Amino acid sequence: MDPIRNPYAPGAGQRPPELAGRDRELAQFDILLERVARSRPERSLVLTGLRGVGKTVLLNSMRSQAMARLWGTGKIEARPDQSIRRPVAAALHMAVRELAPRHRDPAHVDAFLGVLKAFGQRDAGGSKGTQRWQPAIDVPASRGRADSGDIEIDLTELFVDAAQVAADLGVGLALFVDEMQDLLAADLSALCASCHELAQLGLPLIVVGAGLPHLPSLLSSSKSYSERLFHYLRIDRLDRSAADLALTAPAAREGVMFDRMALDEMYAAAGGYPYFVQAYGKVTWDMATANPIGAQDVKMAAPQAEAELAVGFFGSRYERATPAEREYMRAMADLGDGPVSTAQVADVLGRRPSSLSPARDTLIKKGLVYAAERGSIAFTVPHFGHFLRSQPI
Ligand SMILES: Nc1ncnc2c1ncn2[C@@H]1O[C@H](COP(=O)(O)OP(=O)(O)O)[C@@H](O)[C@H]1O
Ligand SMILES: [Mg+2]
Repeated sequence: MDPIRNPYAPGAGQRPPELAGRDRELAQFDILLERVARSRPERSLVLTGLRGVGKTVLLNSMRSQAMARLWGTGKIEARPDQSIRRPVAAALHMAVRELAPRHRDPAHVDAFLGVLKAFGQRDAGGSKGTQRWQPAIDVPASRGRADSGDIEIDLTELFVDAAQVAADLGVGLALFVDEMQDLLAADLSALCASCHELAQLGLPLIVVGAGLPHLPSLLSSSKSYSERLFHYLRIDRLDRSAADLALTAPAAREGVMFDRMALDEMYAAAGGYPYFVQAYGKVTWDMATANPIGAQDVKMAAPQAEAELAVGFFGSRYERATPAEREYMRAMADLGDGPVSTAQVADVLGRRPSSLSPARDTLIKKGLVYAAERGSIAFTVPHFGHFLRSQPI
């Protein structure tokens, strides 16, 4: 098929040509937005799942949904070892900028911007050498609110003030937090506390998070009440009909069909994982010569698709690991594809479990594995065990 018209979009955060199988989540989010805007009690939302299942893309769609309801929105991507202070300040600045032109009381908006500026410019511990936050805010930074240096107090005060600006307009604010498992412990805890306070006050600001499967357990060890604060949505691979739709709907718009057996072959290869669906779809499209696309086309394309995944999806992550970490992951892979017990990994390597804790901890920090149930560990990347087993040692 004509590569120029190839609709598929493999890549982290790449908007898919068809957002398949997420209608239930989007409908739920619509209800949440409406309830929050009407000050009904609601919980903030957290999406969890493995890499490549479409969390970022869904988060972006939810953001568009909020914007369509004229909410103010902002987004941050958490990074390990980075404070959320400035990213949150910039995100809320953007969110409030979306609302400001419609606000009837510019003085109220300016007052908030003064608080926001103070919040963003306050450095905990006075870290020297870092550049002062220089936002395009004309109002001078105010004093005495959201600028104590204690992130929990400051974030709560900032959120309360921001929510009030939105409440004046009968809408809300949504802060989207991607890779939420990477937040510093203090920031995660502050975020929980702020959401808790807002919920009690019935103010319209919600946090919508996305992260790896162990995020709920991070949140509950951060604040015991977090289970009542967040609604967890597990984002998983697509079922057969959604995976088919992800391929056929964009193709049909270009006048291209897949036959039944091609779709069987696709599902067998991609297992419904959105990233893989896009990757196989893309290569198959380029290599197929006839319409409808048949099973043979998919088979022909598979090695090329796998090679591209080995570089772009698996390899880029594998390269981040040290030799000791690779050895650890290799032992996990040899034990199987599901979660494996850390004791078994130690057994395979003929080592004491405690001597392997550093490798395990850094792998968690690098986002390659996560602590599943008690004492067990799993890959954050689907099919990663299979990839590792195919690597030369
Ligand atoms: N619902 C979906 N239908 C089809 N493709 C999707 C869907 N969700 C995500 N994708 C595709 O999967 C890939 C990974 O999406 P992304 O949001 O980056 O995943 P995650 O954030 O969970 O790692 C992207 O190429 C995206 O286009
Ligand atoms: Mg993502």
